[in-house]
Amino acid sequence: MGCLVMLLELRDVAYRYVDGAVALERISMTVETGDRLAILGANGSGKSTLLRILNGLIFPTSGVALFRGQELSERALSAPDLKHEFRRTVGFVFQNADAQLFNATVEEEIAFGPGQLGLSRAETHERTHDVMRFLGIEHLSERPPFRLSGGEKRKVAIASVLSMNPEVLIFDEPFLGLDPRSQAWLVRTITQLQSAGKTTIVATHTLDTLPKIADRALVLSEAHQVVSAGPLSPILADENLLRSANLVE
Ligand SMILES: Nc1ncnc2c1ncn2[C@@H]1O[C@H](COP(=O)(O)OP(=O)(O)OP(=O)(O)O)[C@@H](O)[C@H]1O
Ligand SMILES: [Mg+2]
Repeated sequence: MGCLVMLLELRDVAYRYVDGAVALERISMTVETGDRLAILGANGSGKSTLLRILNGLIFPTSGVALFRGQELSERALSAPDLKHEFRRTVGFVFQNADAQLFNATVEEEIAFGPGQLGLSRAETHERTHDVMRFLGIEHLSERPPFRLSGGEKRKVAIASVLSMNPEVLIFDEPFLGLDPRSQAWLVRTITQLQSAGKTTIVATHTLDTLPKIADRALVLSEAHQVVSAGPLSPILADENLLRSANLVE
């Protein structure tokens, strides 16, 4: 006990939306530096809700969410120091890129986060261009994000998170709507980020790309509870488990 402070931890978390819909029940999990974690579950099982809690966008109805041992509550995150440290450490790529993109041009979109973190104009410019080069989207820099294709929007959304250089990257259904080449590109990008030391959490209900980007998984049931958690390969080999969680037919 107490020898290692977890990067992120949920202890017996439940979440209920205001209309009464239960989205999560009794969820306990930990995320350590360097983890390559997958969150698996059918539509409506609670993956996006879980990620929103890990990213401090919403807060548990009961139980606690912890970041480096400190409780993530609305009140705690109103303290500028914790808020700044948390926002700098944890980056979130939304399931729906349209919910994430709001600036007039791609370049401004990617520069927004570094600006919020207080980087100088020169540093912000350098980071923005480094990230565009890394993701191969320099040609889009002057385009308005809302006029891009779905796949291009996804790349810009990822860029706008990478430009903040977070230690933890959370992806919600990142492969959704991508063509095969873009999917392969994203797998390569995620593995490059992992090699660079990033901790990654990927929520998905598509299983084929997982072995390349995750080595641990947490499976949510349609009753919004954890039905399995541990190394990825035995989970992917467990047909009964996958069927009961509605992850395979
Ligand atoms: N804003 C909301 N208000 C009320 N209920 C919600 C809201 N968002 C999600 N829910 C409900 O919470 C449950 C979990 O939803 P969530 O979006 O977390 O699932 P998910 O696993 O991400 O699904 P998907 O694979 O379709 O993205 C569902 O029953 C859903 O209807
Ligand atoms: Mg979702």
